[in-house]
Amino acid sequence: MCGIIGYVGDGHDTADVLLDGLSGLEYRGYDSAGIALANATLDVFKREGEVSALESALEGADVHGGAVGIGHTRWSTHGPPSDANAHPHTDERNRVAVVHNGIIENYQEIRDELTAAGVTFVSETDTEVVPHLIGQALDAGYDPEEAFRRAVDRIEGSYAIAAVFVGSETIYAARESSPLVLGVGDEGHYLASDVPAFVEYTDRVIYLDDGEFARIEEGGIVVTDREGLVVETSIETIEWDPEETGKSGYDHYMQKEIYEQPTSLRQCLRGRVDELEGEIVLEELADLAVEGPVQFVACGTSYHAALYGSALLQERGIPAQAFLASEYASERVPVGEDHLVVGVTQSGETADTMRALREASAAGAETLAVTNVVASSAARECDHALYIRAGPEIGVAATKTFASQQVALTALACVIGGGDSREVVRGLRSVPDKVQTVLDESTAREVAAEYVDADAYFFIGRHYQYPVALEGALKMKEITYKHAEGFAAGELKHGPLALVTERTPVFALVTGDGEIARKTIGNVKEVEARGAPVVAVTDGQSDVEQYADHVLRVPTSTPVAAATVANVQLQLVAYWVANMLGRSIDKPRNLAKSVTVE
Ligand code: AGP
Repeated sequence: MCGIIGYVGDGHDTADVLLDGLSGLEYRGYDSAGIALANATLDVFKREGEVSALESALEGADVHGGAVGIGHTRWSTHGPPSDANAHPHTDERNRVAVVHNGIIENYQEIRDELTAAGVTFVSETDTEVVPHLIGQALDAGYDPEEAFRRAVDRIEGSYAIAAVFVGSETIYAARESSPLVLGVGDEGHYLASDVPAFVEYTDRVIYLDDGEFARIEEGGIVVTDREGLVVETSIETIEWDPEETGKSGYDHYMQKEIYEQPTSLRQCLRGRVDELEGEIVLEELADLAVEGPVQFVACGTSYHAALYGSALLQERGIPAQAFLASEYASERVPVGEDHLVVGVTQSGETADTMRALREASAAGAETLAVTNVVASSAARECDHALYIRAGPEIGVAATKTFASQQVALTALACVIGGGDSREVVRGLRSVPDKVQTVLDESTAREVAAEYVDADAYFFIGRHYQYPVALEGALKMKEITYKHAEGFAAGELKHGPLALVTERTPVFALVTGDGEIARKTIGNVKEVEARGAPVVAVTDGQSDVEQYADHVLRVPTSTPVAAATVANVQLQLVAYWVANMLGRSIDKPRNLAKSVTVE
């Protein structure tokens, strides 16, 4: 998975547009980066490392001016990070440069064929077959556009591809199962994997569909289908404030996104709560009829939201189950025409989730995408889409999108489950303010300072707080690089209790004063008796504080809303531990924001 950018025009400096765009796409990958500028010559610059390494390499180089260029920031799939494996890739005669996001499944077969024909490869990537195929077609006398189309016709798999040619001021692009959006500007045109790459220049976009090609020139954009027939496109104006993609004074995107939660949650709820009736209204799902079981498919943080969503539906008497998308296979899981399969995916592009949704759809199930990205693959391919409206999330660690997924799934459960939702609606409406209170009053930083040197961190919770325990541990792992584990509180005594020592703080999620809180306090006592420090995340309704070494206080909420509110404390603890350890918070090692390989 990678990010690609392209620019044609003379309104801006091409290299500057490309480098700015790549910085906005680094959440998609950041192990190497490169640009190609096409003029009378074709100039390619690339470096292992983040975009800043490429920028340093370009200091003093003659890269400015020129009307057309493409760029790429990479997250390795075929071949490790290196200068040679960085994109763009070229043919042997340096006539064409190509950037690609996706996986070319038949690349080995093509590579063998090209090698047998005498082509020398300089990288280990799957992508490099593309410029060589184009080169072969140029040798055979085809013009650049036809050579590009013929190369794309040969490859199988997923791709968003862009190519520029020596002596040409056109970008050729194609899309299949990888995101690609075109930007229509007054001073040139753009292409990118995602809108933040060019949003500072234009808010008018064309979303390319699978199987479509684009020819992008200063004078205009022409989109064609596989047969070369011109496709009518519509230009959409997006509501995306360029300020939203900056850090707005915070040290990290993750911190900014944690603090944005009251706003993003209000956005998620806007127009969806009928204040008078105490009901949830999801107009976009007006024709959704659920007649059978509901299955959720998702990965990582989104899977934790899916667990929460399935608990909400079970509570309403609807058979519901959450699956890790990578473990979901329609031949093993009973799924049929009476099923609704819900893909929970922030990006809408996660390969495991997309595959699971496609399998479910092929088995006849109705599909629904719960996603943050408008016109993402999930939104476009599913029968229905419910947008969580969290705004762009740049930090690799999902924070505000998890909260918005929780709220959107709660709304969905009310709509599917029917019945009296007044208490849930009341809880939902108060969530943004309660999250704000946590952000204003949290003592998570002090707790982080106390336990920054811990050997490991454990998180326990029951029912709606169980997915939050898992999510708290995932946040801690991915940004601190330290061992963390979330458990159903009742499971602790069945094995994990052996891990507990005075150097392993246990974060216990205890809200309310009912049966669930009482049982979790029993588990807290087991931990305390074995000498482990206890941090209680609590609304103070129970007596858990008397067994806790530290308290992270949250406002009293309904049981459903409490899971969203309590999670914010765990986000803050993970953030501050990572900060104190000097970790790369927005771009943790080995990770990328959206994972478009299985
Ligand atoms: C969470 O912090 C991670 N970034 C990761 O687990 C993520 O939630 C997962 O890869 C799924 O992504 P998606 O929601 O875009 O499908």
